[in-house]
Amino acid sequence: MVPQTQRPVGVIGVGYVGLVTAVCIAHLGHRVVCLDVDEAKIEKLRAGLVPIYEPGLDELMAGARERLSFTTSYDELCERSRVLFIAVDTPPSPSGDADLSRVERVVSDVSARGGERLLVMKSTVPVGTGERVLAELESAGATAIGYVSNPEFLREGAAVDDVLHPDRIVIGAYRERDGDEIQQLFAGIETTVVRTSVPTAEMIKYASNAFLATKISFINEIANVCEVVGADVRAVADGMGLDERIGPHFLRAGIGYGGSCFPKDVQALKQLAGNSGYHFQLLNAVIEVNHLQKRRVVGKLQERLGRLRGKHVALLGLTFKPHTDDLREAASIVLAARLRAEGARVSAYDPMVAPGARADLFPGVAIATSALAALEGADAAVLVTEWPELVALDWTVVRDVMRGACVIDGRNALDAALLAAAGLSCDGIGTVAPVAIGDSVTSDEAR
Ligand code: UDX
Repeated sequence: MVPQTQRPVGVIGVGYVGLVTAVCIAHLGHRVVCLDVDEAKIEKLRAGLVPIYEPGLDELMAGARERLSFTTSYDELCERSRVLFIAVDTPPSPSGDADLSRVERVVSDVSARGGERLLVMKSTVPVGTGERVLAELESAGATAIGYVSNPEFLREGAAVDDVLHPDRIVIGAYRERDGDEIQQLFAGIETTVVRTSVPTAEMIKYASNAFLATKISFINEIANVCEVVGADVRAVADGMGLDERIGPHFLRAGIGYGGSCFPKDVQALKQLAGNSGYHFQLLNAVIEVNHLQKRRVVGKLQERLGRLRGKHVALLGLTFKPHTDDLREAASIVLAARLRAEGARVSAYDPMVAPGARADLFPGVAIATSALAALEGADAAVLVTEWPELVALDWTVVRDVMRGACVIDGRNALDAALLAAAGLSCDGIGTVAPVAIGDSVTSDEAR
């Protein structure tokens, strides 16, 4: 840990990325001032409460408490800090471009306060944003403000570990000394540091997310073909992943990717290319496959139950992945709406979603306080999010409370043999039930 006597680092925007970044920088020994326009959030943080669910963040924040302070005032922030990380939202706009209005606001609020500063972009912004910000600063006469692109690759649910033990740190700078300063700030983290230009750093972020999303859509299409030819996608992915050129990660087939990054960033990269006259054909397919994948579960239910009108379907898990409370672009939203549109009765359980809490996202869905309550009387169940507590359900008890025996495993996370022993059928995405051939066992079964 490096005790710091210099001015504290500023972090603007304490959402997932901003808060985790701030806490981790404080953990590295630096003092940090966090700014957010949301008074209620800042009050909570001042009281030592973490406003998001992120494993390990509470403990880390408690440990670095004396180095962290929180404010809603730009005057205070700019008086205390010179290096300012920007971690505000860049949601998709109706045109598909990233909406940079919050970033623009920050830049104008900071430049209005003058002084010699360094802006460090953590938000995911389109390639060209650095140039645009520099031009804005120049026209505002704020030429003493430098700019660095330092994209974030953290995953929700593993954010602390991702920041403190990243695969790489990317730093794109216009001036060598600005890049050096940010590299020095992260000196406590052992990893490869990629020093590059600002547009290249911006592109590394988009290209990484788009490639990971492509991997997921690719394996999902392989899964769909596996269903036709009787292969098991889990074994196929294992076999593929052993090839070092492919690697084992992000080859889990399921009901598609969601969350605050992949859908938005893939769309934004496609849009960015389109705006410059390039048709990024591959990304169109990645997006379409992901849309269709969320709907395939409805077809599976229809195959099992016939018409869904009046049938009761229980959704197990709602968040876009486990270990987060984030529902942004979650497959559950599309799935619940489609099931309701087919006339099904839909109940649901998620450890992070309280009954009645998100009626805006799940209209007409009865959210229960336990998995068994959601499953009571259900004709079918769908595992939407592979929360450990859902994967570990006692399936004999589940069979007793359900009316039907159909389970769709949207994440290929369940043990089909266990469910079968409990009298439940279990359909995965691109999986086949274990088959014994004579006395030998197929490689699929041996997994
Ligand atoms: C992602 C990137 O991983 C991270 O680097 C970036 O900074 C932000 O976006 P995150 O959205 O938190 O992180 O979640 P991630 O764990 O990457 O999963 C994204 C989605 O893909 C989830 O819906 C997950 O269920 C799905 N997924 C992931 C799959 O369907 N299959 C896989 O093999 C991996």
